[in-house]
Amino acid sequence: MKSIHDAVRAAVRAALDLPPGADVQIGSPPDPAMGDFAVPMFPFAKVLRSAPQGIAQRVVAAFVPGGGLASAAAAGPYVNFRVDRASFTAALLAEIDAQGDAYGHAAEPAGKTVVIDFSSPNISKHLAYHHIRSTMIGNALCRIHRALGWRVVGFNFLGDWGTTHGMLLAAWDLWGEAEGVDLAADGVSKLNDLYVRFRAALKDDPALEDVARDWFSRLETGDTVARERWSLFREISLAEFEEVYARLGVTFDAVFGESFYEDRMAPVVADLETKGLTSVSDGALVVDLAELKMPPCLLRKQDGATLYATRDIASAVHRYEEFAFDRALYVVDKGQTLHFKQWFAVARKAGYPFAENLEHVAFGQIRFGGRKTSTRGGNVVLLHEVLQSAADEIAAVIAEKNPEMDAARRDEVARQVGYGAIVFADLSRERARDVEFDWDRLLSFEGDTGPYCQYQHARIASIIRKAGSDTTGADPSLLTTEAEWQVVLLLSQLGGRIAQAGARNEPHWIAGYALDLCRAFSAWYSQGNKEPALKVNCGDAATARARLSLARAVQQTLRNALDLIGVAAPTEM
Ligand code: ARG
Repeated sequence: MKSIHDAVRAAVRAALDLPPGADVQIGSPPDPAMGDFAVPMFPFAKVLRSAPQGIAQRVVAAFVPGGGLASAAAAGPYVNFRVDRASFTAALLAEIDAQGDAYGHAAEPAGKTVVIDFSSPNISKHLAYHHIRSTMIGNALCRIHRALGWRVVGFNFLGDWGTTHGMLLAAWDLWGEAEGVDLAADGVSKLNDLYVRFRAALKDDPALEDVARDWFSRLETGDTVARERWSLFREISLAEFEEVYARLGVTFDAVFGESFYEDRMAPVVADLETKGLTSVSDGALVVDLAELKMPPCLLRKQDGATLYATRDIASAVHRYEEFAFDRALYVVDKGQTLHFKQWFAVARKAGYPFAENLEHVAFGQIRFGGRKTSTRGGNVVLLHEVLQSAADEIAAVIAEKNPEMDAARRDEVARQVGYGAIVFADLSRERARDVEFDWDRLLSFEGDTGPYCQYQHARIASIIRKAGSDTTGADPSLLTTEAEWQVVLLLSQLGGRIAQAGARNEPHWIAGYALDLCRAFSAWYSQGNKEPALKVNCGDAATARARLSLARAVQQTLRNALDLIGVAAPTEM
């Protein structure tokens, strides 16, 4: 259903023949007796070449009641709209009830495809805590686009190629086998140790550089030993990634490593050469981007090795061939901004049909006490450990707050809330901002946290359990308080928030929505603590029934919002 704001915008646009997306500002009249919404007309004066007062008269003359709007009246340069709250609320609650988990989602397919590159970790390393960002922002953007009716291809572009994999093979050859390292248990840690050791050794013995390069070229030329070992490392890594993805409820529609592009790069490079875009600089093949004030994009090193950018270009060509996308998103930290700018520019110069549809969805870093996390030194905080600690801490809180809950159920809820806390903290701010990791704050049941939203959800579920969930025949016209109306207004806005989150690639619009809804619910609910007549489950049976139907709609809508950002909605806590 359209939100009541949409109905107001539509009424103004229709009356003035404005295009569907035209901006219509909605405010409140100085006195509620004048109406529910006030729309200023002066923004239209210029385009329509007439005075705002006259425009207001036009809107009022064209107004037809409907969509929840009862009347429109001109007040100088403003039009004040009055809402038919009862009919609007009745239609909205019926719709939420009928659509359930799909409430807020587009009714029609959008007929568009988006490929979302997210998570995309490097093999032979653990998923570190900072990987939560790409993984969960990407996961949310997949869900948001699906809700908007898009065909979504979640794409995991594994980093399984390049010279670091030569280093790993060299390290394995030097020490791994000789020391009988067994990769069957905790293989990724052992691979990572070998890698760190190799980099340290490299400082004293620069000749190791050549050994690594040699191993990488064996890999490139298809040497059986190199290939087998590399495949093993890849499998071990993938199995570990899968475990973490399963905890987070993350899935992909396509998993292609950089290695997949080995023989797809030559044709792409040849195409760029034919188009006269390449030049040779210090023996390397590059695309000069000086006119765009960027360093050249490196396609092939002097020794013939291809590079990250080359693989990205080849992969974009492949993605377009496979999926004919309308948008391709790359959810990657802002440290890689130049890389994306460079190869997007190359795609544009090459005249690729998809060049204008590539978007780097950049995000900030996670900081621990002001320091950013990095994998180079080997001092990483592992994602699965953070998730586990969060679940453990929440389990302890629940054991204290709700000792009756049985242990198995408690552990399940603790995982939902612990993981939810971590994910929500990651998604509750604009993505470009850095995130300060604050353990106590993100696990708190109060404030702008995941556990707060989840707790509100569980609370509503419990109210409904106690009161009985039968709300047939509920009469929404009995919902007359201002607090109830604020809740209704928010409920109607989910669809609009999803559209905004999708257009801007900002899941925090949804996290913020969940918080707004919880706060509105809480404000409504807590009135009942002061005045029994305002209780959700008050003495008057008909009113209680109407209020319960609103509470149910809040529960459903909150669950839908949390689901969009990959946060579970437990029914008890
Ligand atoms: N594997 C890369 C890294 O860990 C991220 C890849 C991002 N996606 C891409 N298409 N470049 O830094």
